[in-house]
Amino acid sequence: MKLLSRLVALALCLVTTLVEARTFEEIKKDGKIIVASEGGFPPFNFFRGPTLTGFEIELAEALAKKMGVQIEWRALAFDALLAGLRQDRWDMVIASFGVTPVRAKAVSFTNPHYCSGGVIVTKNPAIRKADDLADKVVAVQTGTTYLENVQKLAKVKDVKNFPKDTDARAALVSGRVDAWVTDKFVAKAALEAAPSAGLTIGDFVFIEHIAPAVKKGNTSLVEAINKALQEVMADGTYEAISKKYFNEDIRCR
Ligand code: ARG
Repeated sequence: MKLLSRLVALALCLVTTLVEARTFEEIKKDGKIIVASEGGFPPFNFFRGPTLTGFEIELAEALAKKMGVQIEWRALAFDALLAGLRQDRWDMVIASFGVTPVRAKAVSFTNPHYCSGGVIVTKNPAIRKADDLADKVVAVQTGTTYLENVQKLAKVKDVKNFPKDTDARAALVSGRVDAWVTDKFVAKAALEAAPSAGLTIGDFVFIEHIAPAVKKGNTSLVEAINKALQEVMADGTYEAISKKYFNEDIRCR
């Protein structure tokens, strides 16, 4: 029985790796691209009522327009997004994924759609730099580069991780942790949304390039997305969407 279930698991594995990702030509013929995001990382991807919106959602819509396809959106937990590419459940992911060597082994990244990094957010203005996190309890979202980088800081007392970044923020606001490490622009938006929460933004812990991802090796789709990205960055579309959300152009320079 055990052997049988192992064989079944092995067969399933083989099937999922043998199924080919849809090429851009196939997506184009179909007329729609399936794009997955999270919906919990304002102002990049979030829900306004029932509607998925944000900088990345509007940017992806602009890219799809250039590519001549419609988007069919999926919203899922952050840690399910890259795995779904491998299983061909969607064609592309846009959810503020930083390009890391480990992720680049599992998926293919396009060119970055913005540059940012993880910053320290606290209620205590004395905590500003990575060194100030010594003996402190830090909240981060599970599966993120924030978790990875805070874990590298030797003297941190405890890293509490939350499936949702908004819950990591809530832990800081209610005083259950000393600091929250998140994206610089997410931190800025959180401060603006709740000026009375007493939050302050400290230094960068690290910086990163953020990019959309597709199934590992789906070169035709990477090329099509890169071309569209180049076009929206050249014709003012990118700048307009970026300024709408951040009052500045956040592309990598
Ligand atoms: N930039 C960070 C990372 O690459 C966080 C991304 C979080 N994204 C989200 N949709 N919650 O891990």
